[in-house]
Order: sequence, then C-alpha cells, then structure tokens
Amino acid sequence: MARIVVLTGAGISAESGIRTFRAADGLWEDHRIEDVATPEGFARDPELVLRFYNERRAAAAAAEPNAAHRALARLTQAHQVTVVTQNVDDLHERGGSRGVIHMHGTLNGALCARCGHRWTAPRVMQVTDPCPACGAPASRPDIVWFGEMPYRMAEIWQALRAADLFVSIGTSGNVYPAAGFVADARHAGIATLELNLEPSAGSRLFDAARHGPATQIVPAWVAEMLAAA
Ligand code: APR
Repeated sequence: MARIVVLTGAGISAESGIRTFRAADGLWEDHRIEDVATPEGFARDPELVLRFYNERRAAAAAAEPNAAHRALARLTQAHQVTVVTQNVDDLHERGGSRGVIHMHGTLNGALCARCGHRWTAPRVMQVTDPCPACGAPASRPDIVWFGEMPYRMAEIWQALRAADLFVSIGTSGNVYPAAGFVADARHAGIATLELNLEPSAGSRLFDAARHGPATQIVPAWVAEMLAAA
C-alpha cells in the first residue's frame, strides 16, 4: 500500500473532448487570460466572464470521463491515493475518484463576490443572479483566477509531505503553485513520475517520465501498480 499524490491538469480530460489551455487550439488562443480569468476581468465585464464559464460548464457536462480518469479510480484498490486536480470539470468524480481536491475550484460551484457565500452553480449563470444569502447580484464561478490563492493548499502540502510517490498527469507545468510540487517532492526525497503527452516544462525534475496519450499510458501504469501491490 503506497501513499500516492496524483496531480492532474487539462491533459487528462483532453481525450474526453475538453479543451486544454496552451495547445495550438487551446482556450487561451481564443480568450485573453486577463479578460476571463482574473478578478479585474470579472469586474470589467462580468457578462463576458460568465459566458466563458457557462460555455465551459456546458462542455464539461457533455463530456464523459475517459479511461485515464477511470484507471486512477481503480488505483485506490491497492494504494492510498490523493487526487489533486487543477481541472474544474467533474470527470474525476464521475470516473469514480473520491475526495478529489480541486485546487482551482469547480465549474459546478458558485460564489458570491460580495459576501463569500457558496452554492451549486446553475447550468447557466447570469450577472443578475442574486446571491441566495445576501441577495447581491454578484454571482461568480467558484473558480480560482490568476492572482487568487488556490484552494486547500495546507491539505495538499500535508499529503505531499506524507507521500511515497508523486505523479503528475496531463499538465504543462506552467502555473504555480502546482508546477512547484515536483521540486517539493524531490526535496523531500519522494519518488516522482510524469505521465504526459510530451515533456512538460518541469520534465527534467522527474525521476521518470512516460509520454503518450493519457488514455493509454495511465491505465498501463495503473495496471503495473496494481500487479505490484
Ligand atoms: N494525454 C496526456 N497529456 C495531454 C494530452 C493527452 N491526450 N493532451 C494534452 N496533454 C498535455 C499537454 O502536452 C500539456 O502538457 O496536457 C498539458 C496541458 O497543459 P495546459 O493546457 O497548460 O493545461 P494545465 O497544465 O492544466 O494548465 C494549468 O493553467 O490556465 C491555467 O487554471 C488553468 O488549471 C489551468 C492551469
């Protein structure tokens, strides 16, 4: 029984049809980050921001978990697994994972920009939606924007420190603090593995790496981990 912390990024959901961010057809090709993924962008044009997340919520609802999500859920048959995801879709949960830590928030969450109240987001969020607690028309997606603190970092550091193995799946290693987890794991003497379509920005920091589509390399790795347990 190994204690494994798995960090995932947009690449694990790519084969479910969910767009990644920094590929040639990525989300950041169509939208400027500062317009749709910052508090300033939301203050400037809340309509545009809600429309961006309504589109992503609809895409996530229409998508299905893939073999990589389902393989990660199987890994818990023999190991203690903590899934930390940068993704805001719910494909890990729908693929069978439990206790997933969404460090960048979730599309299914809504947050009041005025009083901080949280509730389950409607499929389509409107600027005029009143907060169920304070009534202010200040609804925003419960998503961590650039310049904001990621969620549940204390739990993540705690799980990292106690891990035997840190595995990074489907992330380009461009955004901190997630991009720094591999260096922290190495510093703590924890084994590290990258499973990604291609070498990420932090590839050279990993003890080992396997490159290819997640739906192929993740189930293969999980099968090895279950056989070795
Ligand atoms: N299988 C495995 N990996 C894949 C696949 C696939 N089918 N398709 C793409 N990838 C890899 C890419 O090679 C890339 O390294 O997934 C990674 C996606 O990188 P990004 O688009 O940068 O997404 P991510 O790393 O999750 O971005 C991190 O940045 O924009 C912010 O908040 C946003 O959570 C996001 C964060």
